[in-house]
Amino acid sequence: MENNGRRKFLGLCLGGLAAGATAAVAYPVYRYLAPRGADATAGTVTIPEKELPPGEAKFLEFAGSAAVVVRTKNGDLIALSAVCTHLGCIVQWEKDKQGFVCPCHAGYYTANGDVISGPPPRPLKKLPVRIADGVITVG
Ligand code: FES
Repeated sequence: MENNGRRKFLGLCLGGLAAGATAAVAYPVYRYLAPRGADATAGTVTIPEKELPPGEAKFLEFAGSAAVVVRTKNGDLIALSAVCTHLGCIVQWEKDKQGFVCPCHAGYYTANGDVISGPPPRPLKKLPVRIADGVITVG
């Protein structure tokens, strides 16, 4: 009789631990895989032009998702989604190569967002960008 009580208690404890462990693993996986910016509102983001010299990139959040603005060495301005088109990792700017690398599976993109190599199936999504009176506006 007493053994049954202990077994039942032990079973409840193990069940609780298993549920907690499952939640601890499942939530980060869900956050990683969930579509980004699904509930985001559109708008614009501005940055002072002086914060983006030629050859540099500036990452920002646009419409609830990671984005990046590039000022190429010849002065062109490009705004892109920073979300890799393979599995959604955030790309990184490689100033020396003037392009983007995805840290997850080594996808490479040009500064214009075109795929150079690796698994990404499509270019990075282009975003509207303009410059006026020393202010860069994305969106
Ligand atoms: S998620 Fe970017 S290359 Fe796989």
